[in-house]
Amino acid sequence: MTITPPALSVFETLESEVRSYCRGWPAVFDRAQGARLTDEDGHSYLDFFAGAGSLNYGHNNPVLKRALIDYIERDGITHGLDMATTAKRAFLETFQNVILRPRDLPYKVMFPGPTGTNAVESALKLARKVKGRESVVSFTNAFHGMSLGSLAVTGNAFKRAGAGIPLVHGTPMPFDNYFDGQVPDFLWFERLLEDQGSGLNKPAAVIVETVQGEGGINVARAEWLRALQSLCHRQDMLLIVDDIQMGCGRTGAFFSFEEAGITPDIVTLSKSISGYGMPMALCLFKPELDIWEPGEHNGTFRGNNPAFVTAAAALDAYWADGQMEKQTVARGEQVEQGLLAICDENPASGGHFRGRGLVWGLEFPDPARASAVCARAFELGLLLETSGPRSEVVKLLPPLTITPDELDEGLRTLARCVRETA
Ligand SMILES: Cc1ncc(COP(=O)(O)O)c(C=O)c1O
Repeated sequence: MTITPPALSVFETLESEVRSYCRGWPAVFDRAQGARLTDEDGHSYLDFFAGAGSLNYGHNNPVLKRALIDYIERDGITHGLDMATTAKRAFLETFQNVILRPRDLPYKVMFPGPTGTNAVESALKLARKVKGRESVVSFTNAFHGMSLGSLAVTGNAFKRAGAGIPLVHGTPMPFDNYFDGQVPDFLWFERLLEDQGSGLNKPAAVIVETVQGEGGINVARAEWLRALQSLCHRQDMLLIVDDIQMGCGRTGAFFSFEEAGITPDIVTLSKSISGYGMPMALCLFKPELDIWEPGEHNGTFRGNNPAFVTAAAALDAYWADGQMEKQTVARGEQVEQGLLAICDENPASGGHFRGRGLVWGLEFPDPARASAVCARAFELGLLLETSGPRSEVVKLLPPLTITPDELDEGLRTLARCVRETA
């Protein structure tokens, strides 16, 4: 029988059974700074989770905190619907100058409701409106959010079942390497598109993550992404890249698709765009796709102005030069070396790893081993979560601002957890 510590009892008695992270991490967190959280009893935890990718610049980043405090103290607008505000103007100008223009990206910027799934819903809606078709192709093990439209293009059977109604107008296709390289890329997809007898409704768009975060850290090769873009062009389908988890520098470059040299028609961003863990989301699209009627996609909390303030401060502080990208690549190499050593030391575990930038996954053939590793990590003060269709992958997602020493500390703890769960 599990005994709930008194400090956690109100969560158990009052909060819904739907809660999840607090089950794996049974502590009451109180403060956080950089890559560390502290619980109310003073225990410290090293963060290899970063708010599921929402805290790329760490907890309570001092540069962003200063900008936020100054803004609040001068009574800057907090809630703004989509009214024009000075904070929103400063964000748009900074986003254009620091991110879009240097990358020669012509996108228009839309503010949907402030969560990832809102951005995905707006992207799907727009693609269907532009093409006048209802079907959208997604990929095996994709995750795009929990609202109905996003669930319809999400792979995970458990999450899909929660919808309670049929999830329609989405068709899954094999993600890169789904057949372990045994089948030529897009063989099935292209055949279905070209065969008038296939029964596939012509899709309006394809939605893809360049690295599937929730799906198990599956990394699409750059050539696969380029071939997907070319297939979309040939078949008159829009290419939507969902960069909600992998954007904002997680894989190195600001956008995760930059390495492949592609320009998606539509891009969704959320999670770390505000930089401070505050709700904010963007849907970016090529100007010729901007056929929305005013107010056709609305939402009360689109104008979260304090998030615009921290977002602009984060872009100025971390993206005005090329340092962030170089640092992430270097930190990623450190993680890769650490994971290599762990797998070499524990061949019997059958573990193998993959990743890009600062997102890595350590997969075990036995999902129980992955959850045992994460449970032991929590006891040792390291926050790690699992991902993948069977929760068989230990996911490493530290803040991008983590120091090499902290990274080393976390990797040593992870090595100990793998050793001790043998
Ligand atoms: C790729 C991707 N898309 C969409 C979402 C949904 O974002 P949110 O939970 O903010 O709705 C997530 C969340 O993990 C995600 O990783």
